[in-house]
Amino acid sequence: MTQAKQVRSFQLGSHVVNRLGYGAMQLAGPHVFGPPKDRQQAITVLRETVELGINHIDTSDFYGPHITNQLIREALHPYASDLLIVTKVGARRGEDASWIPAMSAAEIESAVHDNLRNLGLDVLDVVNLRLMFDVAGPAEGNIEESMTAMAELQRKGLVRHIGLSNATAAQLDQARGIAPIVCVQNQYNLAHRGDDALVDLTAQAGIAYVPFFPLGGFSPLQSATLQRVAAECEATPLQTALACLLQRSPNILLIPGTSSVAHLRQNVVASELTLSPRAVADLEGIGKQAG
Ligand SMILES: NC(=O)c1ccc[n+]([C@@H]2O[C@H](COP(=O)([O-])OP(=O)(O)OC[C@H]3O[C@@H](n4cnc5c(N)ncnc54)[C@H](OP(=O)(O)O)[C@@H]3O)[C@@H](O)[C@H]2O)c1
Repeated sequence: MTQAKQVRSFQLGSHVVNRLGYGAMQLAGPHVFGPPKDRQQAITVLRETVELGINHIDTSDFYGPHITNQLIREALHPYASDLLIVTKVGARRGEDASWIPAMSAAEIESAVHDNLRNLGLDVLDVVNLRLMFDVAGPAEGNIEESMTAMAELQRKGLVRHIGLSNATAAQLDQARGIAPIVCVQNQYNLAHRGDDALVDLTAQAGIAYVPFFPLGGFSPLQSATLQRVAAECEATPLQTALACLLQRSPNILLIPGTSSVAHLRQNVVASELTLSPRAVADLEGIGKQAG
């Protein structure tokens, strides 16, 4: 592995964060519902993130629900001043673990208060308005009511900065007409490159692009090309997949999720890896094959 010379940090809202962060969704129970199998292990993973220099944690009060935020509070409160916790609103959970849209002004305000209470904060640094996620990707639709509610919570001082999740370029445009947007969190990884144009657009606007499922999500990426390039780089396939995203654009911030300390340590090492132009070209081919 060669040492990276690429930019290591990015200004997200009021914080300068390392580009390799952590997504806390995997800490809840199966289907992101209920408590983790091993609560102490979840606390250990969270404490290890900050030990490893991670200062950007992605969460939501609908993970569990409530449980992931309560774990973060137990593990890390009082929070270090450089730690940025980014949360999201826009859904609630059914008793059967389903994901139910919760986009009205009242539901958004209630979700912000849930996040404040469970994280033990007086103000949330960055809150993503999460639009509904379906397998086909973000769907067009008017977001004026929900964005106006977010802007009102910002005006009241409960939310410092606003982001969007599962958004199209048109929705980003509409949102920016209502309030500044600091980040977009959409599905994007080596095999799922539908947002290439949005990555470039957000880069030009100084907005962070934070791919979710950077490792492929619940079924991590598998590809013969990825295996081969990783072996050539003396890295694991998933480290190689993360390194390729970091090289894609300086506004990409990673939040790979894991419930394992060993995997967390492996993922952090990905920010040390520099891929050759040839390796990047080979990896780009995976997304083209996947369509
Ligand atoms: N806005 C949205 O709608 C949305 C949707 C989904 C996710 N998110 C956010 O995005 C974050 C990342 O997504 P994600 O966690 O679902 O998917 P991901 O980061 O693509 O992958 C997580 C999966 O990869 C495994 N994994 C992680 N590191 C590994 C390693 N080094 N070796 C082998 N396996 C490894 C994890 O299992 P182990 O636990 O066994 O390591 C888990 O099964 C979430 O935590 C969440 O904060 C947002």
